[in-house]
Amino acid sequence: MAVRRTCMNLARTPIVGGNWKLNAGNGVTKASVVDLVSALNAAKAPECDVYVAPPAIYLDLVASTVSPAFATTSQNVYFQEKGAFTGENSCEMLQDIGVNWTLIGHSERRDYFGETDELLGAKIAKCQSVGMNVAACIGEQKEDREAGTTMDVLIPQLKAITDNVSDWSKIVIAYEPVWAIGTGLTATPQQAQDTHADIRSWLADTVSGEVADAVRIQYGGSANADNAASLAAGPDIDGFLAGGASLKADSFAVIYGTFDK
Ligand code: PGA
Repeated sequence: MAVRRTCMNLARTPIVGGNWKLNAGNGVTKASVVDLVSALNAAKAPECDVYVAPPAIYLDLVASTVSPAFATTSQNVYFQEKGAFTGENSCEMLQDIGVNWTLIGHSERRDYFGETDELLGAKIAKCQSVGMNVAACIGEQKEDREAGTTMDVLIPQLKAITDNVSDWSKIVIAYEPVWAIGTGLTATPQQAQDTHADIRSWLADTVSGEVADAVRIQYGGSANADNAASLAAGPDIDGFLAGGASLKADSFAVIYGTFDK
């Protein structure tokens, strides 16, 4: 199904990401990464922007072997260039191996590794200073959704982004309701569309109408080959960030194929 994003005079190019998390493709070996890369290279070519985010240890391998149709993305980055920061990777090192995209602020980074909005803001500022593309993740917990306070929770997360961005062409927002991640509980198309529209309207009020019209907002949280088309029908849904469904090239190709022209 062809889905077009048009907004006044401006068309947003859809963007789909595959977050492999701590998975080496469908296994835990370099060989399984090679298998997934081969399957992606053989799959239907994307007609929208697509990125894949393997574990850091495989970034170099993926960046040097995957088709240029798939931008290789890190799942995290630190805000310092180098030094005594055990376990971290820098923008400069990523760019040196041809990786110019990173995910920031995923709920698993926030929940399991204690990342704060302040740290995310510093990372975003750093990425902006070196021209690195960022997919910045935001999302609410189940209790927030049930209490009707979703935007109250999303706004501070959004502020950590907007306070640190001057070049919006390098920023994509990934709205991922935490209760939908890895649970099979996808947001309904209406819930997703309404929240994306609320985010866009907050951006229009806080940053500018131009930025709000241009910025791409991906939906993430149990997005898969079966639900992508109905979610993509929402005019403010500009793509997906898929986790589990990105580990198989065929289901991932169906998801990005939702945006075929
Ligand atoms: P999921 O993960 O598609 O497996 O729910 C999405 C994400 O966390 O980015």
